[in-house]
Amino acid sequence: MEEMGVFQAMHMARALRRLKPDPVPDDAIEKIIDAGVRAPTGSNLQNWRFFVIKDAEQRRRIAEIYRVAIDLAGRAYVNRQAPPHMTKDRQQKMMTAARYLAEHFAEVPVLILAWLKMTPDVENPQLPADQMPVFLRLSGGSIFPAVQNMIVACAALGLGTVLTTVLAYKEEEMRKILGAPADLRLYAALPVGYPMEGYGHGPVKRLPLREVTFLDRYGNNWPRK
Ligand SMILES: Cc1cc2nc3c(=O)[nH]c(=O)nc-3n(C[C@H](O)[C@H](O)[C@H](O)COP(=O)(O)O)c2cc1C
Repeated sequence: MEEMGVFQAMHMARALRRLKPDPVPDDAIEKIIDAGVRAPTGSNLQNWRFFVIKDAEQRRRIAEIYRVAIDLAGRAYVNRQAPPHMTKDRQQKMMTAARYLAEHFAEVPVLILAWLKMTPDVENPQLPADQMPVFLRLSGGSIFPAVQNMIVACAALGLGTVLTTVLAYKEEEMRKILGAPADLRLYAALPVGYPMEGYGHGPVKRLPLREVTFLDRYGNNWPRK
């Protein structure tokens, strides 16, 4: 299959949650991770740690945890309204797909788990207390660019994936299964596989640019039309 260009891949990389169990070649996985590590990290620490999970027993264990984690996270969404740009039907489809993924997580051939090794700054006494919440908020900035690179790489290679984060609520259980050291924090899991027929890539639909972009000051929506 011919690879897509980067702009096409970004436009086609929608969240795909219905994935075939067919194996994914190792060289494709390597290419995806290699795309991930082209992303920046704060101070160029490159403190990301990726786990590629292919073993069926490991996937089964993680799938069990995923089901518990999604139920846990789902409780916060019970009464949540659909955002104004999303129809109820569209939201329902997304929830159904998320549920499908949770029920079939063990069948996804490859999982890529994105962890971050915490830097000593977390315990740095020189970091003023009022900066700590900002520091913690920014920590994801050293892992999500890599995750997005991997999502785009998957699309370019014809592979489906979706950014999931619920496993972070069950970090300790995940740590035990994987033997991950205590200084690693779990941020995201990408289930990777070939999309099922009828559930393929793109186009990614978003709000018009001018609704979310301002020129020079708030309220000056841009581009003009
Ligand atoms: C921070 C974040 C966390 C997410 N967590 C999950 C998740 O745990 N499970 C899931 O199925 N999708 C998850 N998603 C995927 C979003 O629902 C999806 O990216 C969004 O609906 C846009 O989908 P689209 O690109 O197909 O339009 C997450 C996305 C982000 C950005």
